[in-house]
Amino acid sequence: MIDYRRAGLLPDRPHTAFRKPDGGLYYEHCFTRHGFDGPFSIVYHAEPPQFHGEGAAIPAAFPANVKAGAPDALRRRHLRSPGLAAHGTPLTGRVPLLFNADLTLGVVRPTASDAVCFANADGDDLFYIHAGSGELRSWFGRLRFGPGDYVLVPRAVSHRFELDAGPQHWFWTECRSALRVPVQYRNPIGQLRMDAPYTHRDFRVPELSGAIDPDGPRELLVKRGDRWSRHVYRHGPLEAVGWDGTVYPFAFPILAFKPKAGQIHLPPTVHGTFATARSLVCSFVPRVVDFGRDAIPCPYPHSNVEVDEVIFYAEGDFTSRKGVDRGSLSYHPAGVVHGPQPGRYESSLGVREVNELAVMIDTFDTLELTDAALGVDVAGYDESWWETT
Ligand SMILES: [Fe+2]
Repeated sequence: MIDYRRAGLLPDRPHTAFRKPDGGLYYEHCFTRHGFDGPFSIVYHAEPPQFHGEGAAIPAAFPANVKAGAPDALRRRHLRSPGLAAHGTPLTGRVPLLFNADLTLGVVRPTASDAVCFANADGDDLFYIHAGSGELRSWFGRLRFGPGDYVLVPRAVSHRFELDAGPQHWFWTECRSALRVPVQYRNPIGQLRMDAPYTHRDFRVPELSGAIDPDGPRELLVKRGDRWSRHVYRHGPLEAVGWDGTVYPFAFPILAFKPKAGQIHLPPTVHGTFATARSLVCSFVPRVVDFGRDAIPCPYPHSNVEVDEVIFYAEGDFTSRKGVDRGSLSYHPAGVVHGPQPGRYESSLGVREVNELAVMIDTFDTLELTDAALGVDVAGYDESWWETT
């Protein structure tokens, strides 16, 4: 999804006999997107990846997007995700908070490693690791991650998370259209441009040496169209000896994003990090802010009339918000004006740098709140703009 990578053992040519030391065949596995027309990787397995059975329908491993009752008012919302109880695994602990046809946004606060493998055929899963660390194990190898990392698991990649000790708190987005690098960051041959806010070297990919998940489970859960099924392999599904291509999990540290500053305020699009067909993921990182005479560093009140905005606040102090804390989310629906809270616009004059760290998702399709979101909704946020200080 970023560039071409390769790891481990590969034959010289695809679709040819590739032999093990004992003379047997390795099994080629073509992993393709957009039918056979899009980005692809080829993985080489010691065991046939299609040798599974007992496919059976099962209950959902985590709650679907549930919205009971009438649609909610178009209020500006403050959701305190630390109020959601830590529970489950990276798979079962997912709590959807906001959703539309393109995205589900939620939080995961797992307390245990995944006990089964998972392949999400409904979309690419992007995690922002607010707290915690561990290892993503997949066909592509082992990928370490820690606080401040984005972690991408492409659609339908079989994987599981093995967690380190300690609290985990992740912001999660299921992207049902593909997650990609914004097109304006690529040059005509696909390389990241000199003026892109990150480089190819900033992306970490799985390491493949030795067994990936030697004592791992043989069960694989698959979600497609929000239908869940369980499949049993005769061997552990997370094994491979080599792969190459452009589709693979990656980790990207948010602090590798190189922010731009302007003489006067630049629109949030300059913080664009990843895109889907209908949304933009932005990274707000510590930076120098607008340096021109009389520049107002605080974001202007705005009516971005086609876009719902969600921000996950990770660290630091936001120039435009008060009352939000680590792990807070704000939701500002299109159709109602939003902007700095009372006093913030004026007090930002003269500010030269900000130390905020946050992830924003702007989406063209209207989001709805789940019942779980309403359970951590902070009363009075929409009225906080009435305050005089
Ligand atoms: Fe905004």
